[in-house]
Amino acid sequence: MADRYLSFTGTAPGRFLSRRLGLPQPAALRRWSPQRPSLDGALLRLTAGKSELDPGLASVLSRTGLEVAEAVPAAPAGALGVAAVVLDASGVRDVDGLGEVHAALHPVVRSVAASGRVVVLGAPLDAGDHHQAAAQQALEGFTRSLGKEIGRGRTVNLVRLTDASAAESTLRFLLSPRSAYVSGQVIHLGADAPTVPTAPTVPTAPGDWGRPLAGRTALVTGGARGIGEAVAETLARDGAHVVVLDVPAAEADARRVAERLGGTALPLDITAADAGERIAAALPDGLDVLIHNAGITRDRRLVNMPAERWGSVLEVNLASVLRTTDALLASGALRRGGRIVATASIAGLAGNAGQTNYGASKAGVAGMVRALAPRALAEHGVTVNAVAPGFIETKMTAAVPLFIREAGRRMNSLAQGGLPVDVAETTAWLAHPASGAVNGQVVRVCGQSLLGA
Ligand code: NAI
Repeated sequence: MADRYLSFTGTAPGRFLSRRLGLPQPAALRRWSPQRPSLDGALLRLTAGKSELDPGLASVLSRTGLEVAEAVPAAPAGALGVAAVVLDASGVRDVDGLGEVHAALHPVVRSVAASGRVVVLGAPLDAGDHHQAAAQQALEGFTRSLGKEIGRGRTVNLVRLTDASAAESTLRFLLSPRSAYVSGQVIHLGADAPTVPTAPTVPTAPGDWGRPLAGRTALVTGGARGIGEAVAETLARDGAHVVVLDVPAAEADARRVAERLGGTALPLDITAADAGERIAAALPDGLDVLIHNAGITRDRRLVNMPAERWGSVLEVNLASVLRTTDALLASGALRRGGRIVATASIAGLAGNAGQTNYGASKAGVAGMVRALAPRALAEHGVTVNAVAPGFIETKMTAAVPLFIREAGRRMNSLAQGGLPVDVAETTAWLAHPASGAVNGQVVRVCGQSLLGA
């Protein structure tokens, strides 16, 4: 469903009128395309406190495809301006260090181009004493506040890390058009998990950054339409053989998607008690990427909600996710080096009237991810993360009544809904063979929605 307001404010009279009336000013977001795969302009690298991340950080940034500068490049050499700023604040240990954060960003924030990126790098919160913890936690409030005020389609995110070399896939994602609808997020990176080749023919990551999933098999539940279809498309773009799983009633659509992407359709109701075993049987060579995307809503306030509505939502959105994950890990069908990406929702983080069932199921997904991640990595070499979409333009949200739809679209820092591809790009980053250090994260793809934690 087209966002007419966004189109209108993209015109000169629309811009004029919306500004005069103090209405939201959504900017057309710059997204990935084969013709324009990276941002245009320089990457400004700044430091507050004594950097803990060099020399690894310098070498990772030099591979982003952006020209790294230490000061705003003067025109005409820097005619394109600043595409992104990376502020290394990992060495900020006290309130004076926070002063350096201000001193570094205050003069340059205006120079960041539309749809540009600000990425703040921080240390783990448990790294030092309470002064350091205070200063490092302060970076979260800073990041989220800047995200809310920066405007023009620009995003601001915080990454906590100790080893820059484990952050390459994450920084490449955040510093590219692929992360257009991800803002106000705090991402914790662990130590880099070794990337295990899944078969003798599969190179160890990162290998080819253009087709990182080449030789790998990815299964997307609910892949016949909507967000799942976009995820299947994006993983196929990244080289994966995709298996499009959907209910038997959607078999024709699943086949259409699979054929277009050179993949395979798998008609199966994911709530079947033996769904995990049937997936394993359909994929005798195993799989590398498991995307739990299938989901349903059956909204009613709790007072009017029959057990059957409660049960069906919990069954599709949570119980089947737990069951198939357990079965595919236990059987070894999900190979070492594998990735699980589940789908939560900001409704599960913030709560939503009429969605006690849905909110419970999606919060449950986040709980599963956090608890399973360390164990799955240690025991199976598999990472487990979740995406939590906000308002995404799909058939599901097109059916939402107009007023609520408009509120959902505008109540975020980017003042617009996201597209299925935004969730898909985030999923692809989490599924990346080089994302072994990203584990147990619930990453919101919500344009920094006002709803949720
Ligand atoms: P959709 O309704 O367009 O697509 C869901 C797909 O899952 C359909 O193809 C459906 O047939 C399939 N499916 C449902 N039950 C199934 C089952 N038992 N077995 C196998 N497949 C099944 O939904 P949409 O909007 O693409 O959402 C995808 C995911 O993203 C869901 O988990 C949803 O809860 C979540 N989400 C969506 C948001 C949005 O704004 N659209 C916001 C937050 C989360």
